[in-house]
This record gives sequence, structure tokens and C-alpha cells, in this order.
Amino acid sequence: MNAPTQLVIDPALLERFGGRGPRYTSYPTADRFHAGFTDADYLAALRERAKRRDDPLGLYFHIPFCRTICYYCGCNKIGTKHQGKSAEYITALTSEIQLVTDAIGIGQTIRHLHFGGGTPTFMLDSEFTELFEVIHKHFVMAPDGEYSIEVDPRTVTPERLKVLRGFGLNRISLGIQDFDAEVQRAVNRVQSYEQSRALIAASRAEGFHSVNVDLIYGLPLQTVAGFQRTVELTIAARPDRVALYHYAHLPKLFMPQRRIDEEQLPDAATRGALFEMATRLFGEAGYVHLGLDHFALANDELAVAQREGRLHRNFQGYCSHDAGDIIALGVSSISQVGSVYAQNDKTLTGYYERLAANRLPTVRGIALAEDDFLRRDAIQALMCGFALDWQQLEARHPVHAREYFADAIESLGPMREAGAIRIDESGIEVEPRGRLLVRAVAMAFDRYLREAPPTGTYSKIA
Ligand SMILES: C[S@@+](CC[C@H](N)C(=O)[O-])C[C@H]1O[C@@H](n2cnc3c(N)ncnc32)[C@H](O)[C@@H]1O
Ligand code: SF4
Repeated sequence: MNAPTQLVIDPALLERFGGRGPRYTSYPTADRFHAGFTDADYLAALRERAKRRDDPLGLYFHIPFCRTICYYCGCNKIGTKHQGKSAEYITALTSEIQLVTDAIGIGQTIRHLHFGGGTPTFMLDSEFTELFEVIHKHFVMAPDGEYSIEVDPRTVTPERLKVLRGFGLNRISLGIQDFDAEVQRAVNRVQSYEQSRALIAASRAEGFHSVNVDLIYGLPLQTVAGFQRTVELTIAARPDRVALYHYAHLPKLFMPQRRIDEEQLPDAATRGALFEMATRLFGEAGYVHLGLDHFALANDELAVAQREGRLHRNFQGYCSHDAGDIIALGVSSISQVGSVYAQNDKTLTGYYERLAANRLPTVRGIALAEDDFLRRDAIQALMCGFALDWQQLEARHPVHAREYFADAIESLGPMREAGAIRIDESGIEVEPRGRLLVRAVAMAFDRYLREAPPTGTYSKIA
């Protein structure tokens, strides 16, 4: 039941079933992690991984530093002008890698590597060299792996891209957000179109595949005409992928957002029009909707993976193969190893202190039970393929799916009657007009939500 990629915007449906909900980069979602899960639990999961050396493995490095802070930002980042911060950080990352490989053993092969932030390119080239030396000492990078980095165009030149490519990085994501000068000023992020376009071209020339750009709609001072220009300029630069994020405004959680003048934020109707215009233009330009806020050219590996039913989703977003276990390193990062999720300390001081005491910096996490695995599988199928096939689920788990999920099916009744989804003996399929509500469909399978309703900390679904 691999549904073809299409999307229909139905404002009445979005109005009725929208609201707030998790993005399901994990299940259980990160807000369900608890402090009862400790570094000893994570260590046990890593030791168990030592017996599964051939299972797929990926690494995630979180580099939190940014030279300036964009007011809209909801990422885990630390603003600083002190370049010395990253040298100290690499020393800590090295200790963390040492502790991890003491547990899993040296020389395991990785097929995925992702540098996220903050701004990974805050690090100097010499620091990347140092870090890659440590990586090579402890892991083997498979020659055909997916090795990606998030790049702030303001921090790199085409020459610098060549250096990054030289480390074996082969996927790249550029943060753009909006090309309009006034919007850029309102969010404290000024960068020129020429600079971004030159970097997209240089990424291609250097052999990065799947060049992604991030855009955000719903930012202050955005208008349909202004954002249309951003979309057109983006299409002209022809990235392989586009993330079109809905601005998540949660000023209680993210301090810098308090500097945004709420009067300048587009209203709900304008936000809808911005999204409608952008999806229409991307669609006309040959981009297919992967899910949530992601689009890709039809020949991009993610679009192909979706057509072939092997698209996956993890903390780094969508990926074309199951990355398997992910060992995440750095402040605030979340690992997924065997049957656990483990999150590192969110504060730099706490992260450093734990490592200095020769302890893994895990402060919270969760161990998955059978029921969690089953529900995670169901939610992944919906989020990645807009469909859930009972038979396929039953082939992987010892349950009668329709009986097990009778309550979920019942709760989806109104969405079914409204034409957002189809439910029959074989499974559930999200209709094109229900696709933007896929998170609301997935929420029906989330056991934790039934026990504690969604909180204001989730972002808006539509
Ligand atoms: C870690 S940043 C990307 C790398 C680099 N720091 C940069 O800004 O170019 C991740 C992306 O998250 C998105 N983002 C950050 N805060 C957001 C928010 N409040 N709502 C929606 N998207 C957001 C932006 O599109 C940003 O490019
Ligand atoms: S969007 Fe990127 S550069 Fe801007 S503050 Fe967030 S992480 Fe830093």
C-alpha cells in the first residue's frame, strides 16, 4: 500500500482536525523520556550492541554553537563569539566517543553520519580534521554511506565546501529560511541570495548529492508576494530537497523568540496562503511531497525510497534506509540503541561535568516495551508512507492488528467520515487531502497521549 505522493490542501479539514501534535521523530516522543533512565541503562544498551557488531549503525554529532542567534530559532543552540569554545567541545566529544567505544568495541562500521546543530561549521577546518581523526580511530566509515552536514551559508565559502567534502561528507543541508531582506532583518539573519545560490552550485560541483535547503513560512513580515519570490528563487537554484517548515512560535520555551514582534507575524489565513502557494509552486516545479514539511525532486533518493516503501524517519528527519542504531554525541543529543532512547545533558556545564567524571552524559531516556515497538512501527508506516497495512504489521509483530488497535480505529472514525483517511480490512490509507493531518492520524496510535493529552509544547499540525 505505497500511496503515490500527492497533496491536497483542504482548509476546512485542517481547521477541524488540526491543533498541536508531536512530529514523531521518535516513539515514544522525547517528552516521555524520564530521569529514571540513567547512564547505567544506556551503558547496558551499548554493551549489548557489542554483540551485534554487524547491525546497521550511524553517528550523530550535535555542535551547538552559533555566532549569532536567529530570533525564530527553536533548536538546541548556544550563541557565542568565542571560537575557543569548539576546541574545548571537541575534547569532550573525544572523551564521549572513548566511553562509547569502550562499551561497544572499536572498529564498528558506520553507514550514517550526521552533523547537526546549532551550526556544525562553527568548528574550524582544523577542528573537523581533528574530529575526523578521532572518528576514524574508533569507527570504520563504509564507502557507500550517507554522511551529511547542516551548513549555515553565512559560515562557509565554496572553498570550505571542498574541505568538508574531503572528509567524506556527501550530503548537505543549507539553512536559508527567506530571501526577503526585511524578513531577514526582523529575524536577525541576513544572508544574500547570491551567496546561497553560489553554495548550492558549489555543493553540486563538489559532488554532494541531495542538496537540501530549509525554508520557514510564518515568519514576521512575510507576505504571499514576498515569500513567492523566495520560493521562485529557491526553485531557480534547484536544490534536490526542500524543507518547508511551519514557524513554531513557542516564546515560553525559546527565549530568542521573545524578540519577535508578534504584531508582525502573519495571521492564520496568510500562513495558509503562504503554504498553499509554496506547495503549489514546488509541485509545479517537479517536487513531490515526502511527508510533513519535506519535498524532493522525483529522482532524489528520498522520493525513490518513498515510492519503494523504504523511507524511514528518525531524529535527523527522513532517511532512505533504516539507519539502525544511532549513537548521538554532544550536548542534548538523543541516541537510539537497541531498545532504548537516551538523551544527553542539555546544558554544556552538565555535559562537561559528567564526562570529566568519566561518565556517559545521559540524563534521561526510556526503555521500549513490546507495545512501544509495535506502535512505533505503525506510526513510522503512517509518517513515511501515509499508509498502514495490517498484514505487514502482523508479519512483524505477534498481534491481531485490527483487534489490538480497535480503539485507535474507532477514534479515527470522524476523520474517516470527513474523507481524510480510508480504513478497510487491509489497513489505513491517508487520502491526499488528509496528508497534512498525518500527525493527527499517528496520534491515534500513541498510547502515552491517551494517558496524558497533548501539551502546549507540541507544534501546530497545520
Ligand atoms: C540547526 S538549523 C540549520 C543549520 C544552521 N544552524 C542554519 O541555521 O543554517 C535547523 C533548521 O531548523 C529550522 N528552524 C529553526 N527554528 C525553527 C522554528 N522555530 N520553527 C520552524 N523551523 C525552525 C530552520 O529552518 C533551520 O535551518
Ligand atoms: S537557525 Fe541555525 S544559525 Fe540560527 S540560531 Fe538556530 S541553529 Fe543557530
